[in-house]
Amino acid sequence: MIVKIISDVERIGRNTVTIRFSWDQKVEPGQFLMVWMPNHSEIPISISHTGPLKGITIRSYGETSEAMIGLRKGDRIFFRGPYGRPFDIKPGRKLIVGGGSGMAGLLPLVDSRAYGVVSARTSSDLLFADRFAEGHVTMVTDDGTAGIRGFAIDGVKSLQLDEFDMMYVCGPELMLKSILDYVAHKSIPAQFSLERTMKCGIGICDSCSIDGRQLCTEGPTFSKEELMGMHEFGTTRLTESGKRIQIGRH
Ligand code: FES
Repeated sequence: MIVKIISDVERIGRNTVTIRFSWDQKVEPGQFLMVWMPNHSEIPISISHTGPLKGITIRSYGETSEAMIGLRKGDRIFFRGPYGRPFDIKPGRKLIVGGGSGMAGLLPLVDSRAYGVVSARTSSDLLFADRFAEGHVTMVTDDGTAGIRGFAIDGVKSLQLDEFDMMYVCGPELMLKSILDYVAHKSIPAQFSLERTMKCGIGICDSCSIDGRQLCTEGPTFSKEELMGMHEFGTTRLTESGKRIQIGRH
């Protein structure tokens, strides 16, 4: 377990924070940490800042993340990692599609030429849309309070995909599935980062398995071609207790 002192906490909107800390470790976009707090469960969190001053961006959705967003500068943060297969970054123009807190793990990919589709339930939940160059982002909200009213796929459908060399996508699995179905037979290459239950992060517990592959060691990033062969993608997943359930929209 690695322990670091928090050097800064940036509050982003009503229930999201970015926690920054110095860590002299090479970390690649798409990797994650298993983050722990005393008296709480360990949870996987994408790394949103990969420079010398690392960062993780946390949205409150459960008891550990709820406790984490109360952390302050000078507090300690406990974690293991970095884990997971990073994105395979290709040269050329990137199309970055992030849903909800999924934008956190995509942030290290944003550059001056990148174009973003940033989606969330409502305008106050949109994450990092301001990090794209002017005119380089399409915002999408479920309730229409910003940008297009609809889902991330509606933002993707509004674009000319042949203007881009690679698509990078992260968000809820049903969002990923709708985008995969749309681009499956188009020429644009795509990589997806999946969010599923993870307990150990190192390939032991099998809580993260999808079609016999482990998200924590073989993912969380997968290519379009890899996902097209997975029957459990967008249909079923394991819960914390190991029960297999249907995936519903969230
Ligand atoms: S989280 Fe335990 S095997 Fe992947």
